[in-house]
Amino acid sequence: MEKDIDSLIERRLSRRQVLQYSASTLLAAGLPTVFAETTISQQLKQTITPLLGFKPIPIAHLIDDVVVPEGYRAEVFYRWGDPVSSGPDFKMNASNTAEEQLQQAGMHHDAIQFYPLAKEGSQSEHGLLVMNHEYIDAQILHADGGIFDSPDNYSKEKTLKEQYAHGVSVIEVRKIGDGWQIVRPSNYARRLTAVTSMQVSGPVAGTAYIQTEADPFGTEILGTFNNCSNGITPWGTYLACEENFNDYFDVSYTEHLTAKQQSSFKRYDIEHSYYGWHHNDERFDASKHPNEPNRFGWIVEFDPFNPDSTPIKRTALGRFSHENVAHKVGNDGRLAFYSADDSKFEYVYKFISKQAWDGSQGMHNGQLLDEGILHVARFFEDGTGQWLPLVFGHNGLTVDNGFDDQADVLVHARKAADQVGATPMDRPEWVTVHPDSGEVYISMTNNTQRGNNDKPSSNTANPRDNNKFGHTITIKEQDATSTVFDWDVFALAGDEQHGSTIIGDSYANPDGLMIDSRGVLWLQTDVSSSKLNAGEFSQFGNNQMLAVDPNSGETRRFLTGPIGCEVTGVVITPDLKTMWVNIQHPGEMSELPIKGAKKKSAQLPNATSNWPDFQPNGRPRSATIVITKDDAGIIGS
Ligand code: FEO
Ligand code: CA
Ligand code: CA
Repeated sequence: MEKDIDSLIERRLSRRQVLQYSASTLLAAGLPTVFAETTISQQLKQTITPLLGFKPIPIAHLIDDVVVPEGYRAEVFYRWGDPVSSGPDFKMNASNTAEEQLQQAGMHHDAIQFYPLAKEGSQSEHGLLVMNHEYIDAQILHADGGIFDSPDNYSKEKTLKEQYAHGVSVIEVRKIGDGWQIVRPSNYARRLTAVTSMQVSGPVAGTAYIQTEADPFGTEILGTFNNCSNGITPWGTYLACEENFNDYFDVSYTEHLTAKQQSSFKRYDIEHSYYGWHHNDERFDASKHPNEPNRFGWIVEFDPFNPDSTPIKRTALGRFSHENVAHKVGNDGRLAFYSADDSKFEYVYKFISKQAWDGSQGMHNGQLLDEGILHVARFFEDGTGQWLPLVFGHNGLTVDNGFDDQADVLVHARKAADQVGATPMDRPEWVTVHPDSGEVYISMTNNTQRGNNDKPSSNTANPRDNNKFGHTITIKEQDATSTVFDWDVFALAGDEQHGSTIIGDSYANPDGLMIDSRGVLWLQTDVSSSKLNAGEFSQFGNNQMLAVDPNSGETRRFLTGPIGCEVTGVVITPDLKTMWVNIQHPGEMSELPIKGAKKKSAQLPNATSNWPDFQPNGRPRSATIVITKDDAGIIGS
């Protein structure tokens, strides 16, 4: 077995150009100085070889727990409903009020970041954990379920609890002895929710596209939601991405809307609410308030160190279903921010700032995100590519083609990208940047419509029709500010029968990606709940996280999640000795794929998973877990 892997790796290395590291690419990686600890990282790189040292774990078939390799420990750390500071405790029957939920962890943890607070010279023993709460399972959030479980009991209080269960958490964490604790009370602790007041900046601020009855000047937006993944800036702020915002708006009639508004709703799939908020909060009725959806689908910046700071929606980065955002610093100090639009046949974008970053810390640098050019990727068949600028008046982004100004181009970034001829991808998800080479890695989670009837068929960047299992690609550029690139398929996921090129442990539907400072690529999977452990997906078991050597391609399974969960969000302390991973929506499927399985309901919320509390009358809870090595060593070694 080992020999097989060795020969596969050899073949891969001879095919792939070996990366050439240089001082300029190190700068290009642009590690935030607040995170840098460059010396430590360099030492780690030199002394800890090979990159992957742990014994991989097997696939988990319907195991309702987190499993990590021998020599590692995973502990539950921060569950939905746990207080962010000295707030109220979680009630296992879900009877916490909306007001209580506001002081507790939201649901459906997603991407996570660690912001060090120096402690006796260490950057790795005290800090802030900041994470997104992407969406909710209303059946579990309330004692008698959501609008679909108890339609006659869908109250304003329930809508508010759902809105408060969305957004972002900031918690303070500290290492005590060899364990980690949440600091309570904490002056840093904070929740952003679907109703938090936010400012808006960039070309769309104040324009007619985002003016509403409640905000006639288009300057104050209430809330952020469906915050899938995130990003950091080199100046130490947090970037929350707004993904499937369309699912929160209801459109019951359209006759009174302009043709432009109607076509915008169509392009952004704004039609039907999955949550029912419009029954109790009118702004989510997009028939009545057609500009309200234009206020979502952005990247939101805030300063996690200042609990009073007002978050700002940065419109120059475009409006689409932002999965996450990753950045690189160019040789001249200008910045690139990469973000993909997670829907079938959507695009990969890159914003290049106009001004250079001066290396200082703090939110005042955020204005660099307000001025610059949003680009979208075209992948040519020969392995080269181009970043196409989305600038009003150029490349057909003109009045004749339905664009009125730059704000229009950004609000309707998808349409602008259509117009300039970007390449439709197989649900592009996370983007991450290699800290040494500056190479950009992007996951394509799946696209079963590829090649169907009138849909685009496979091409070299999306090489499989009916792409059930997904793939990853890499982009190489001279500099962060380059507008041309070379690209390659990194791995085709799935099984050998479907042409998998994974070297080592198998997986399907790559989603979360993060490369640590030692160069390990952490890859997380999102096989959808309806497919998990069933049919041809049963061979991949529960969702998982793998560690990949980006040079050799060798892939080892590091973690498997509980039943029905997605594994999403991972961060490591600068000393690489503590890792946090988020476990999202355990038990999301409606019943287990086994004979005689009971159906999950508001009355039986734990029919499919009872992780992490395992109480007889309990319910599954999304949670952050903390992973350490028994010998206090480097994670992954
Ligand atoms: Fe929220 Fe695209 O995953
Ligand atoms: Ca995701
Ligand atoms: Ca996903």
